[in-house]
Amino acid sequence: MADTHTSGSGQRWSNRWLFVLAAAGSAVGLGNIWKFPYIAGENGGGAFVLIYLVCIAAVGIPIMVSEVLMGRQGRSSPIHTMRKLAKQSGRSSRWSILGWMGVLAGFLILSYYAVIAGWAVNYILASGSGTFTGASAEAVGQSFNEFLASPIELIAYQTGFLALTIWIVGRGVTKGLEAAIRWFMPLLFVLLIALLVYAFNSGGFDQGLAFMFDMKWEAVTPESWLIAMGQAFFTLSLGMGTMMAYGAYVPDDAHLGSTVVTIALIDTFIAIAAGLAIFPIVFANGLEVAQGPGLTFVTLPLAFGQMPLGSLFGALFFLLLSFAAITSAISLTEPALSFLVEEYNAKRQRVAVSLGIICWVLGLGTVFSFNLWSDVTFVGGLTFFDTVDYFSQNILLPLGGMLITFFAIWLLPRDLVDKQLGIEKAWVSVLWRLLAGVIAPLCVLAVFVSTIWPLLAGLLM
Ligand code: PFF
Repeated sequence: MADTHTSGSGQRWSNRWLFVLAAAGSAVGLGNIWKFPYIAGENGGGAFVLIYLVCIAAVGIPIMVSEVLMGRQGRSSPIHTMRKLAKQSGRSSRWSILGWMGVLAGFLILSYYAVIAGWAVNYILASGSGTFTGASAEAVGQSFNEFLASPIELIAYQTGFLALTIWIVGRGVTKGLEAAIRWFMPLLFVLLIALLVYAFNSGGFDQGLAFMFDMKWEAVTPESWLIAMGQAFFTLSLGMGTMMAYGAYVPDDAHLGSTVVTIALIDTFIAIAAGLAIFPIVFANGLEVAQGPGLTFVTLPLAFGQMPLGSLFGALFFLLLSFAAITSAISLTEPALSFLVEEYNAKRQRVAVSLGIICWVLGLGTVFSFNLWSDVTFVGGLTFFDTVDYFSQNILLPLGGMLITFFAIWLLPRDLVDKQLGIEKAWVSVLWRLLAGVIAPLCVLAVFVSTIWPLLAGLLM
């Protein structure tokens, strides 16, 4: 590793492009392929897609730039980076709480992420073995429900997925993360293109295209804005220090602004491509677009089951989803893992296994939410899984993202930020501060307050 820094682990991405691939690997996941199409479907398509793009550009990109620049400046795990930067800029070391919030969010998200990714792994096998060939809508729905009703099966797939993630993570930045990303990301692109070609020939492509790009503003509600903003956070892996942790390994000569824009473009391209691969198949089969979370696991197997070569393409689709999920899962462990390795000089493998065990145990709550504990609800009538999802995605991520950008713009020395970003002109610096220091945090604040308000109101009633 050609670098002179000794702080933190001292590990570096081999080059700027590996950082782009790794960060894109973190960003592209269940959020793009499973979630984006179904929420676009539920919120009317085109107009929602436009709002989502605005959120990515106005909020996502400035926050991601802030996270990566702080990571590269601190060159350590997010907790240590926050401590160092707070000291450097004469602020309280309590700012390291941001790093701790990220660690907590990572545990919570990975705990359920591994369960849902396990469903995708199961569906590779189920689709490939022809389970859905010629099956009726009821049969496909019933098979999904039966799968969810079996804790043993869910746990088996969750365990397999988590074990693979931990094995990769334990091998370190170059041997583990980079090696996995070098293989999985190109494969993901190839699979997505194959599916797009398939969707193009499915007979529903024009309708799918129209659905994704025709502006149906009547379908947009105020809540659609909130959903789009939350999705921008989740999909770009923001607000929990993942990008800060990955930023710590970015070589000094990489230009941050253009690098981050490239990552956001790849993520957005894949979300749109996933929509363009899914909706034509849905339309070609006369199915419902506003299916909710079942869009991927019920509608698609049904559609593939009716088509020539459907079991092959169905298996490929779920393989794609599993690849995308594993490169994101890897990144979810990085904030906690890098901290423990630095703090206790511990072995990466050992720490990785311990983190895996904690996430596995927490994940049992998500597994049981679909069967044994489906009637157990918490605040707002949410199941354990819904609660963990809501708390991490709607509270921890926006709060973390807002505070991170606030710190980067208003508390870090200005010349340091300008130097990290390669800003030379005064007006660019002002524009950057306006966008990242005022507009982005205000938008997040609006979303944050409106998402937790109903929850608070519910608690007080
Ligand atoms: N961006 C991932 C997705 O879209 O599925 C999820 C994610 C990964 C969120 C890593 C947060 C994170 F730190």
